[in-house]
Amino acid sequence: MDNKTLSDLTQKALAARSNAYAPYSRFHVGAALITEEGQVFAGCNVENAAYPEGVCAEAGAISAMIAAGGSRKIATILVAGKGPAPCLPCGGCRQKIREFATQRTCVLVVDEDGQQLFKDNLHALLPASFGPENLETGTDKTSS
Ligand code: THU
Repeated sequence: MDNKTLSDLTQKALAARSNAYAPYSRFHVGAALITEEGQVFAGCNVENAAYPEGVCAEAGAISAMIAAGGSRKIATILVAGKGPAPCLPCGGCRQKIREFATQRTCVLVVDEDGQQLFKDNLHALLPASFGPENLETGTDKTSS
């Protein structure tokens, strides 16, 4: 990924992070992904008084991608959390990313200042995974 694209993803994730609704954990997270077609979508965590109903930033970005139509292949997803420990996607989000990932899908984590803390392929975070290929209907965009 070129520097301009990385900068754009970082800015969009940080902007989404600034809108996070996290009154319970006070841990604000933003995420921005770019599809293989070059579309960028962002999301932030949205917590809930009924704690388990909260959703992660990555899930919001994925929902925006699906709602927009177009490519459903994630080239890179960038997560912006508070450092110094990298805000790595949780197990559930790794699986959600996996649904729309390729062999090349990259995961980046930055801190609240946009400094990169982590970079690797999704496969490194979720090896030997279960995915749409395991099911006949998983990749059918036209099913209703
Ligand atoms: N969170 C995310 O949104 N993404 C991650 O990658 C890790 C955790 C959120 C969930 C919850 O709202 C808060 O961070 C604390 O766990």
